[in-house]
Amino acid sequence: MKLTIKYRMENIDRKVKYIAKSVPAIDGAGVRLKRAFGNLRGVNLDPFLLLDDIHSNDPSDFIAGFPWHPHRGMETVSYLVHGKFEHEDSLGNKGTIKGGEIQWMTAGSGIIHQEMPVQYDGLIRGFQLWVNLPSKHKMMKPRYQDIKRAEIKDVAIDNSVSVKVLAGSYNGVSGPVRDIISDPTYLDIHIDQENTFEYEVPTDHTAMLYVLEGEGYFDKTREKLVGHDNLVVFDEGNRISMQTKDKDLRFLLMTGKPINEPVAWQGPIVMNTQDELRQAFGELQTGNFIKHEYRN
Ligand code: CO
Repeated sequence: MKLTIKYRMENIDRKVKYIAKSVPAIDGAGVRLKRAFGNLRGVNLDPFLLLDDIHSNDPSDFIAGFPWHPHRGMETVSYLVHGKFEHEDSLGNKGTIKGGEIQWMTAGSGIIHQEMPVQYDGLIRGFQLWVNLPSKHKMMKPRYQDIKRAEIKDVAIDNSVSVKVLAGSYNGVSGPVRDIISDPTYLDIHIDQENTFEYEVPTDHTAMLYVLEGEGYFDKTREKLVGHDNLVVFDEGNRISMQTKDKDLRFLLMTGKPINEPVAWQGPIVMNTQDELRQAFGELQTGNFIKHEYRN
């Protein structure tokens, strides 16, 4: 007789490991933004590198934009909640991204681009997430894609939770940003007040979130009510438990499998070694930076 042993995996609730408010920073040609994370000491967020939050209705904070600058060795996902930005690159691609839209760009072997606001009043709110590329893809052919609002699907749960799938998938619904090499999940989640939500995530994946609006508890200890502009990083486990009190909550959830490679990072260039960094900056000076021509 053959015995079949069934294993039932125990749920391990992830605990909140780290909470930090985003930090004011100036980037581009003088854009005042908030940096949720970027080169955080002692907190490993692999495969994610950086998350910037632009949030202002004062044009002097953002109008200078991000004029021509290079990138190599990483990918960016720009998600605009409100406002309008224009993108243009050295190889002739051009696109506009409006509220509710996404632009995804793989720098790969190298691009030179600019990202400029095309609005002079009103609220701008947008996020740029940097995702690392593994060594064998760092010098891949660059690519970029604009994603319209209608391509982003909303998954509603019990009328009290809604999940916009930006990248990866949730409840069988896939997001429009599909080919990010490290295959992360990126969700924009809204939970009504006085509600709970549980999210399953592979044990070995990095998991974190950034609160846009409202406040919530992010683990079962319910020790700390976390409000807007805070980054929350989770410990290991396979489930995240969230609970709201008397405010609706909106946050961006990011999960992904770590790449586990050395990171040599300077400004917009993210490689594995200092030699590769030196080479990249040398090529910028000598005009040999662009390796692949590409066009959409
Ligand atoms: Co850029």
